[in-house]
Amino acid sequence: MTKAWSKSDWRNKPRVQMPDYPDTDALNAVEAQLRQYPPLVFAGEARRLREELARASRGEAFLLQGGDCAESFEQFSADGIRDTFKVMLQMAVVLTYGAKVPVVKVGRMAGQFAKPRSAPTEVQNGVELPSYRGDIINELAFTPEARIPDPKKMLQAYTQAAASLNLLRAFSTGGFADIHRVHSWTTGFADEDRAAAYRDLSNRISDALDFIAATGLDDKVDALSTVDFYTSHEALLLEYEEALCRIDSTTGLPVAGSGHMVWIGDRTRQPDGAHVEFCQGIQNPIGLKCGPTTTAEDLKVLMGKLNPDNAAGRLTLIARFGAGAVAEHLTRLIETVKAEGANVVWVCDPMHGNTIKSATGYKTRPFERVLSEVREFFAVHREMGTIPGGVHFEMTGADVTECTGGVRAVTEEDLSDRYHTACDPRLNASQSLELAFLVAEELSSLRIAARAAV
Ligand code: PEP
Ligand code: CO
Repeated sequence: MTKAWSKSDWRNKPRVQMPDYPDTDALNAVEAQLRQYPPLVFAGEARRLREELARASRGEAFLLQGGDCAESFEQFSADGIRDTFKVMLQMAVVLTYGAKVPVVKVGRMAGQFAKPRSAPTEVQNGVELPSYRGDIINELAFTPEARIPDPKKMLQAYTQAAASLNLLRAFSTGGFADIHRVHSWTTGFADEDRAAAYRDLSNRISDALDFIAATGLDDKVDALSTVDFYTSHEALLLEYEEALCRIDSTTGLPVAGSGHMVWIGDRTRQPDGAHVEFCQGIQNPIGLKCGPTTTAEDLKVLMGKLNPDNAAGRLTLIARFGAGAVAEHLTRLIETVKAEGANVVWVCDPMHGNTIKSATGYKTRPFERVLSEVREFFAVHREMGTIPGGVHFEMTGADVTECTGGVRAVTEEDLSDRYHTACDPRLNASQSLELAFLVAEELSSLRIAARAAV
C-alpha cells in the first residue's frame, strides 16, 4: 500500500522558482500564523467549481478565466477590483450569447501574487540583483534590500486576498451582478462600434428578460440576480499553499484554502517536482499549463498523477503555445489526451506564448497575435472534433497601454503612457471585450456547425 499523501511531502521533492528565505525563524513564525487563519475559500465552493468545469469539459459550459498577471500591494483598490469584475461580467454576457451555455467566471484574483521568472537575476546599468518574484515574496524596486525574500509578505497577501474576496462576494450577490443591470455595465467603452454591439446585445437580453417576466416565471428571473464568481492563482509559493491547506469536513480530504482553483505553471510542472507533488493531494480543480516543451510522455504521467480517477472537471489543460505554433503542439497533445481517454477541459491562454520586447523597450503582446492564437485554438479543436472549453487571459478593467493593437490601436510609442503592470502586459478593458466578441463568434459558428451536422 502506498503511503497517504501529506501536505508537506513537497518539501522532500526538488523545487524550482521558489525563494530561499534567509530568516528561517521568521518564515516558521509566518507559517504558524497562517495555519491558524481561516481558509479564504471553502471546500464546497471548490467542489461546485469542479462540477461546473466538468460541464465545460463536455461543452455544456465555457470557462472565462482572467485577471492580473501579478496582483500588486501598491495598486490594490476597490475600484480596480470592481472594474476587472465588471469587464468579466460584460465578457461573460457576450460569450453566453455566442455559446448559449453558462459561462464559468474565474478571476486570476485574491491570491495571484507569486511569479515564476525566466532568469534568477536581473541586470540594470551593470548592477545585478535577484529577480522580482511577486509582491508575496519581494519588491519590484531595484535595490538589494527590496529584492530580499520576506516571509511577512505572505501575511499581507493573505489580508489583501481576504479583502478582495469579501468585495467579490458582495459584488456577486449584492445586486451589482444582476443581469437586469446589463445596461449599466457599459460605462467605459472607448470604442463606439464595440459599445454599439454591446448595447445591442444588452437590448436583446432585456427583451428576453421582459418576456420571461411576462410569462410569470418570476422566481426563475430572480435566479439571474446573482452570479457565481471564483478565484484562482498559480500554486507557486508552497509554504503559503501548505499553510492554508485544510481538511474538508464533508469528505475528510485535503483542500487548498487559498483559492477555488490553482494551477501549475509552465516552469514548475516537473512530474517529480514539488509543485506537482503538492497539487496532486488537494481536491480543488487544478490547471496545468501546457507549452511547446510539454512532451506527450510528461503529459501522460502528469494526467495520471493529477487525475488518477479520470474525474471530469478535476484537470484543466491551459494551452499556451504562441501564435503560429498551436497547430503543431495542440494537435499532438490532443492526440495524447485522446489516446489516454483522459477527461480534461481544454483552455486557451493566448498571452504567455506571445510576449515580445517592443522597440521602445517595453515587454508587450501584439493584440493580433493574441487573436491569432485564439483562432488557431478553435481551428484545431474543430479539426480534431474536440471541445474548446474556455479561455484564460491576463487582463484588467483599467484603461492601460500594455498590449499593442486593438480597435483603438495602442502603438509601441503609446506603451509608456499607462504601463502599470508589475509583471506581464495585460489586455485593457476595450481589448478584452473585443476578444470576447471574437471568441463568441467562434463559439456561435461551432454551435451552428454542430446543429447542421445533426
Ligand atoms: C502566468 O500565467 O502568469 C504564467 C507565468 O504562465 P506560464 O506558466 O504559462 O508561463
Ligand atoms: Co503572466
